[in-house]
Amino acid sequence: YGTAAVNTRGHLEIGGVDVVELAAQYGTPLYLYDVALIRERARGFKQTFDKMGITAQVAYASKAFASVAMMQLAEQEELSLDVVSGGELYTAQKAGFPAERIHFHGNNKSREELEMAFDANIGCIVADNFYELALIDEISQSRKQKMSILLRITPGIEAHTHDYILTGQEDSKFGFDLNNGQAEEALVMAVEKPFINVLGLHCHIGSQIFETTGFTLAAEKIIGKLADWKERLAFESTVLNLGGGFGIRYTAEDDPLEPAAYVEEIIRKVQEETKRFGMTMPEIWIEPGRSLVGDAGVTIYETGSVKDVPNVRKYIAIDGGMSDNIRPALYEAKYEAVLANRVNDPIEEIVSIAGKCCESGDMLIWDLPLPKAAAGDLLAVFCTGAYGYSMANNYNRIPRPPVVFVENGEAKIVIRRETYEDLIKLDLPLQLPQMS
Ligand code: LLP
Repeated sequence: YGTAAVNTRGHLEIGGVDVVELAAQYGTPLYLYDVALIRERARGFKQTFDKMGITAQVAYASKAFASVAMMQLAEQEELSLDVVSGGELYTAQKAGFPAERIHFHGNNKSREELEMAFDANIGCIVADNFYELALIDEISQSRKQKMSILLRITPGIEAHTHDYILTGQEDSKFGFDLNNGQAEEALVMAVEKPFINVLGLHCHIGSQIFETTGFTLAAEKIIGKLADWKERLAFESTVLNLGGGFGIRYTAEDDPLEPAAYVEEIIRKVQEETKRFGMTMPEIWIEPGRSLVGDAGVTIYETGSVKDVPNVRKYIAIDGGMSDNIRPALYEAKYEAVLANRVNDPIEEIVSIAGKCCESGDMLIWDLPLPKAAAGDLLAVFCTGAYGYSMANNYNRIPRPPVVFVENGEAKIVIRRETYEDLIKLDLPLQLPQMS
């Protein structure tokens, strides 16, 4: 995993920093990010487009992990940014992210959120439905302010992945259907609006996808439709945004392609199809989230109680769980882990890692081979960089862990640990406490 290594003390090292020392300094649980790996992934995507001579935008899907520092890092790497809420947009603004490279997604943006996008004059809004199209039209006319949009369409392609994270099928809450005439209706409507500039189309077929077929099928279908629209409606798409969803390796069972391989296949298909219809090549935009930050993240926990159920299994509990990583409970997501304080010790037993939340479903990893662990060991769970912190919560009033960026032997805290005081910050008492 990226710059992960084992040092002479048998400790896990990330970004050239001893993880055991980081745990001592910042406490556990602790999220670490290998910044060099994020940069490498970002550059990998961008270089693939450059190499193939394609005008592109690589937008970081900030839902995977949104924070001021992360957005600053995305800006350093000259990425664009996909936001899906006023909160993500606000964070981007506080990070000083260039508005013209921000794309605003979501199936139910509020008027207030859309106004925020107009105030900031962001690069484009990804219009999801007729209701929103009417709102964008109304706001743009009342302000006499131009706004670029992409139309989010559902091409009717199913990607092989967990049901909960399937967003490109026809029976989806997202987007205009390409097959039943709604996408065309939306396009005809949008191009007539005085202050709306239709840049092109967007689709996102799913997440944690291991094959290129879904992407190339989607591209084929969309370009076929664009050829028809060019002919009948004289509409030409400047931008084709094919979303994110490139899979990563959480465990040895996962078999993703190299990130660049997805992009190469997509580009080839778009070139082939546009050539076939004599169309000009559109800009290709993508929106990776998981594949930019997923395997750059590691969570460090301290082990605590051990429960042996004779002849059944051994539970080892950690000081976090579904409050900092809800993915196992929500998606049956699988992870690999090691003891960060003695990586080289021989494997001695198969244990199951339990979270500390008051819920039987709070199991982080089933059947993990480990050296014999005792209370006070450090467990490092790999590949927690995407949808870990961003889906963290305060279930059981557990404070959220801090986030530390490591790079070139240096560590920098970018989100501090939540305190008990933070937890009651928004609470208003029924009565003021009695003073004696
Ligand atoms: N673009 C759009 C429009 C999306 O809806 C998403 C993810 C992405 C880009 C980025 O997808 P990625 O490259 O990260 O796969 N919470 C789930 C994942 C939900 C993904 C939702 N949309 C998980 O933990 O697996």
